[in-house]
Amino acid sequence: AVTRTFSIIKPDATRRNLTGAVTKKLEDAGLRVVASKRIQMTKEQAEGFYAVHKERPFFNDLVSFMISGPVVVQVLEGEDAVKANRDVMGATNPADAAEGTIRKEFAESIEANSVHGSDSDENAKIEIDFFFNEDEIVG
Ligand code: CMP
Repeated sequence: AVTRTFSIIKPDATRRNLTGAVTKKLEDAGLRVVASKRIQMTKEQAEGFYAVHKERPFFNDLVSFMISGPVVVQVLEGEDAVKANRDVMGATNPADAAEGTIRKEFAESIEANSVHGSDSDENAKIEIDFFFNEDEIVG
């Protein structure tokens, strides 16, 4: 089925002017950008978005990193979008990411790993709603 997922192009990628290169990989994987905006996340937004990780040892560093520069938040649509996006992103740690994936090609470290993508349809809906109104999504 055609579904939606949520993606973030992270500050390490926007800093290196890779917004287009990352988006091309997403599009080549069969995903369509149906909403997109470049934002500077606030600390409160980053803490809220990553609330599920707040007990993790890397939480504070993660929040600092995510507000260290602009990000591009996107809604992606396509056949089985969550899986298609996760496949093209590659493993969280670029050292483990498969050849041809975004993180293999572009990520700097497990933290500065260039992209975020939702891990389930349920979380995709929550994450899309966190950053977008329905009228900002044009399929
Ligand atoms: P993301 O998919 O955005 O979800 C949580 C993020 O935490 C993850 O990608 C990484 O960028 C970051 N992170 C930093 N350190 C770790 C770690 N040790 N394990 C998992 N994620 C980490």
